[in-house]
Amino acid sequence: MANFDYTNIVRCKNSGNLLELIYPGPEVNVENLSIEEPKTSGEGEAKHKPVITRVDDGYNVKVGEVEHPMDEDHYIAVIELIADGQVHKQYLNPGDKPEATFKIPEATDLKAREFCTIHGLWQS
Ligand SMILES: [Fe+2]
Repeated sequence: MANFDYTNIVRCKNSGNLLELIYPGPEVNVENLSIEEPKTSGEGEAKHKPVITRVDDGYNVKVGEVEHPMDEDHYIAVIELIADGQVHKQYLNPGDKPEATFKIPEATDLKAREFCTIHGLWQS
């Protein structure tokens, strides 16, 4: 049995949909679910790994070091910043810039994730 927790992104093996688990109860039926492990390195890293930068009143998250395309069939659908246990999200559409700024206080524990419609889930 997989160890699900609230930070997991979960994939339905039947539909391919990605799901966010708000609270994993003791009887999670894992038969059709798998934890989607975010990539952090390897092929595509330069265009996908989120880059977090402190700005005046918060944090900017860019995908990635080399700007990711935002075409109709290949784009970043969501950027997520997890800061000291708080989750901040920006949903994006084709044509948007592949970045988001979150106006939040300085945090000590930071990570960012993004989901590319072709290349999947990536984490800083
Ligand atoms: Fe991509």
